[in-house]
Amino acid sequence: MGALNNQNRKIGQAQGLPLQNHVSEKNMDWKTAEPDEIVCHCRGITKAKIVELILSGTSTIGSIERVTEAGTGCGGCRSKILRIIEIYTAPITPEPRAPGTGCCS
Ligand code: FES
Repeated sequence: MGALNNQNRKIGQAQGLPLQNHVSEKNMDWKTAEPDEIVCHCRGITKAKIVELILSGTSTIGSIERVTEAGTGCGGCRSKILRIIEIYTAPITPEPRAPGTGCCS
């Protein structure tokens, strides 16, 4: 994937795409990011659009790329898309109760 990423990055640079935006978003918390936060700058795809697709059952990066074209420009957003998929497809686990606070203890 590294070689492909580098190739896409070169293509993006040749097209004058805003690669510097990826650096400032590197540590973005996509769990709390606003819905209108842009995930893919090349295609103008927001977090809300990606989450909408995930919640409707489109939960692989390949299918999200096919539907939105996110990730198909410079490729710099693919790790962000993967992170959002991870967040929104993770099983919900209840918070552990403190000992002695449950109804049966
Ligand atoms: S930011 Fe370039 S492909 Fe998504």
